Amino acid sequence: MLVLGIETSCDETAAAVVECNGQVRSDVIHSQVKLHAVYGGVVPELASRDHLRNVEPVISQAVRDAGVTLADIDGIAVTCRPGLSGALLVGVQMGQGLAWALNKPIVGVDHLVGHLLAVFLRYPNPKTPQEIPEFPYIALLASGGHTAIYHVAGDSAEQITELGATRDDAAGEAYDKTAKLLGLGYPGGPIIDKLAALGDPDAIALSRPMLGRDSLEFSFSGLKTNVARWVETNGRPTDEATLFNLCAAFQRRVVDALITKSIAAARQHEITTIVLGGGVAANRELRERSQLLAAKHGIRVVLPALRCCTDNGAMIGFVGARRLVRGDNDALALSMSPRTSLPRVTRKGRGLRAGERGW
Ligand code: KG4
Ligand code: ZN
Repeated sequence: MLVLGIETSCDETAAAVVECNGQVRSDVIHSQVKLHAVYGGVVPELASRDHLRNVEPVISQAVRDAGVTLADIDGIAVTCRPGLSGALLVGVQMGQGLAWALNKPIVGVDHLVGHLLAVFLRYPNPKTPQEIPEFPYIALLASGGHTAIYHVAGDSAEQITELGATRDDAAGEAYDKTAKLLGLGYPGGPIIDKLAALGDPDAIALSRPMLGRDSLEFSFSGLKTNVARWVETNGRPTDEATLFNLCAAFQRRVVDALITKSIAAARQHEITTIVLGGGVAANRELRERSQLLAAKHGIRVVLPALRCCTDNGAMIGFVGARRLVRGDNDALALSMSPRTSLPRVTRKGRGLRAGERGW
């Protein structure tokens, strides 16, 4: 079965052709990063307009790269939630138009489920052999819009349970806001990641974004404020060494929180596999240290290929394929929503209780 996956939930217009076992036949991504960079974040209206300009050429390219025609596609999968409403609408309407014109089934996919199952994607000629996790696993999803830990028992949304999420900023959002504060550009994650590699994480004392030892929730806004205070007091770093150290200290705090909570979740649920997903899963320090630290507890960390950590159409195609092989078809009933379908246990904006900060 060949599935066309379409993704337009935020600032990437993406399309891919995948097989239902996760083999990626083509993978095309048009990034809007340059468009939004001057604003230091995604501007929803500009995002929708750019998706509208690019969605058709990106899909055509994906079909061409796969060496097939639209007639060879067996079904369509499109991100229908969560995300920017105007941006989601572009992909959903394009998908529905194609499904109707080609008389093919179409299913809506929750973007978060895409990130949680991206680890199953297989690309041609991989540099290193890709590991495959077994269900159930603990998944850490850390992206620009979401940061949460999930229990993943199978490949459908109904088999995924949130165990804890961030109460304020997502990890990627903390990277992006900190990079903006330091005048480093957008998106901040890859930039800080690079600079942090050159610094000493212990040279500058920053707060640790940890809640109580057993809590599986995160809070990153305090760390961001901590960096803002540091800049107020000391000014933006003018020498390279200080900038590298500040980035290294920030990154160490974020990565430590993500790893500690994921290991705690695995131990609480007696699960020996952790899977990473989302844009922040491309982080060098998170990838290296999570494997080292988890191994001490007999836990294996399975990493998705670097290219499928950030937003892409292949992960949407794969999740959709799992539904399409079961005969599902949302057809014209498919609608979009800015919210995820995964039930949430952590309410955003819930403040810290006394005694929860640091340990
Ligand atoms: O998953 P994604 O492409 O989009 C969302 O669904 O949000 O994630 C984008 C986020 C951005 O906040 C970006 O700064 C962050 O992932 N990111 C990274 C790295 N690469 C991307 N954060 C830390 N280290 C990286 N190497
Ligand atoms: Zn994403």
